[in-house]
Amino acid sequence: MSPTGATDPRWWRHAVIYQVYVRSFADSDGDGIGDLPGIRSRLGHLARLGVDALWITPFYPSPMADGGYDVADPRGVDPVFGTLDDARGLVADAHSLGLRVIVDIVPNHTSAAHPWFQEALTAAPGSPERGRYLFRPGRGDGPPNDWESVFGGPAWTGVADGEWYLHLFDASQPDVDWSTPEVRTEYLAVLRFWLDLGVDGFRIDVAHGLVKADGLPDAGDSDQHGVAVTQRLPYFDQEGVHEIYRSWRAVLDSYSPPRVAVAEAWTRDPARTARYVRPDELHQAFNFHYLRADWSATDLRAVIVGTLAATSPVGAPATWVLSNHDVQRHVTRYGDGPLGLRRARAALLLTLALPGSVYLYQGEELGLPEVLDLPESVLQDPIWRRSGFTERGRDGCRVPIPWTREGSALGFGPSGSRPWLPQPDGWSELSVEAQTGDPRSLLELYRTALRLRRDVTPEADLEWLESGPELLVFRHGNLGCAVNFGPAAEVTVSGPLLLTSEQCEVDGTNLLLPQDTAAWWSIP
Ligand code: GLC
Repeated sequence: MSPTGATDPRWWRHAVIYQVYVRSFADSDGDGIGDLPGIRSRLGHLARLGVDALWITPFYPSPMADGGYDVADPRGVDPVFGTLDDARGLVADAHSLGLRVIVDIVPNHTSAAHPWFQEALTAAPGSPERGRYLFRPGRGDGPPNDWESVFGGPAWTGVADGEWYLHLFDASQPDVDWSTPEVRTEYLAVLRFWLDLGVDGFRIDVAHGLVKADGLPDAGDSDQHGVAVTQRLPYFDQEGVHEIYRSWRAVLDSYSPPRVAVAEAWTRDPARTARYVRPDELHQAFNFHYLRADWSATDLRAVIVGTLAATSPVGAPATWVLSNHDVQRHVTRYGDGPLGLRRARAALLLTLALPGSVYLYQGEELGLPEVLDLPESVLQDPIWRRSGFTERGRDGCRVPIPWTREGSALGFGPSGSRPWLPQPDGWSELSVEAQTGDPRSLLELYRTALRLRRDVTPEADLEWLESGPELLVFRHGNLGCAVNFGPAAEVTVSGPLLLTSEQCEVDGTNLLLPQDTAAWWSIP
């Protein structure tokens, strides 16, 4: 792919974007929580890794009921993360390293601590203050309808005067009402605020949730639980969201160079996702269908084919994502331990060979597994509480990352500090320091693969060369890629071998590919 060219307005179409979960990336002041100066101090890692951009999760003033996705002031920086000047400095430093910066915007809900919601609580039913949120009278003694919170339990909470307000997530995250013009104007102003500060784009939280079906009808008695949509629901993926993104696109396009946006849109299938990236809407949408596929040639091939078939008619690039701060880390999903790691190595070569853009989640380059045995006393995800302490939630993929072999926080924070979630024994050997320079390490595989990917023809179509129930072999421009999911198999390579995820035997054009192994070769 072309190098990060500061002047290439189409950079995002084939970019590799690294997700920084701010609480867990780097802690500069020793309070145990990552922060913006911490990110600044570690930008060199991202430049050396070879990514094009970073996406930073919310750092806005927040009571932190949902790790910062409960925003009390969308134009500020929470003191725990730093100051607005730190944000400016971070953007400037990133740009000077050739890295672009994408920030999160959370338009589906605010924090209950947001001044708007505080005003709504004391205002009368039917008042304009209540009209910024979804307040409704109850039905009998109960809530207005049967909607469930993604985090468990009902999606409604009652207030003293008998009305209820909607919250698709925690009760401290009231949904705003996007049919209210003031809401639309306010979020356009928030976009401009961060664009004027210099950010290169946005990741849109719960982009599929903003508009609810007219009349707020019951969802029916189906299992609504979880953010991943597999069925039609009256509060997700409604037609009305698209008009909102068309107005956002106009703002993004009014900047020079144009800025970009990526939707967190959980939909039923790739064709529904593609509707968010039509030419006058958003630039990208996360491909959660890829993330949800099993480690299987048939499943992954079906998602790849389905994704490319859905995105190409709208002219948008596909995206590929394996992990983020909401799902179990893929080393663990793919079998954990040495098997999970071996598959993660192969999955990296598969993912980076596909046409389009790739999102990486901090720590995946180190092969961090999900931490499954965090003590209950440290769990902070609202899912833990809202599920009646039956679902542990997402803290296991949010454990602060290890930078060095030594030190109380393995370099995440200054010596003597304790990270907000404890790092497991053994993470010292997964640290950036321990893996750097070891040619067998996953970190060095990421660095090499990202460097080689820069030479791949951008925007070329994917062409399947061979495939079987346990084998994927395809060409993307000048890159050949094979992934074997079954017993050792022979693959014909039509050019010099570039990289393999494990040691392989090669004899002329015959490559013997062991199980759970991937290879790249160059096609002249
Ligand atoms: C998104 C975020 C998740 C958050 C939720 C509510 O799904 O990725 O972390 O809990 O929105 O804002």
